[in-house]
Amino acid sequence: MMTKIEAVIQPSKFDYVKQALIDIGVDGMTASEVRGHGRQKGHTETYHGHEYSVDLLPKIKLEIVIEDKMVDQVVETITRAAATGRIGDGKIFLFKVEEVIRIRNQERGVAAL
Ligand SMILES: Nc1ncnc2c1ncn2[C@@H]1O[C@H](COP(=O)(O)OP(=O)(O)OP(=O)(O)O)[C@@H](O)[C@H]1O
Ligand SMILES: [Mg+2]
Repeated sequence: MMTKIEAVIQPSKFDYVKQALIDIGVDGMTASEVRGHGRQKGHTETYHGHEYSVDLLPKIKLEIVIEDKMVDQVVETITRAAATGRIGDGKIFLFKVEEVIRIRNQERGVAAL
């Protein structure tokens, strides 16, 4: 019924991805500054021209919970908006969501998104 999308993207693409998601009607999202590495273990990427001595590079993690029927569109939008074509562009993880509760009025499920 509902899916959580976690997308780890390049910080330089965050504003563009955020606006693209708003444009297709995504109402809520959470964004965090995180550090991570993929299969290159951070070694061959640089960030803003700086070489990081550690192998965890700055990324933005987006968390978005949506109705299942929007998943394909949201995944396509993130994939298009976040892409540079280079390594380190990021990754998208999908999770099933059991329940959502809006604290203000106890609405549940899709109505609470
Ligand atoms: N298996 C994973 N589990 C958790 N987080 C991951 C995983 N793979 C990638 N990430 C997160 O996504 C970020 C971007 O990963 P990245 O795009 O470098 O993946 P990749 O598999 O190395 O692909 P590419 O070859 O295109 O670089 C990482 O810095 C990390 O935060
Ligand atoms: Mg990588």
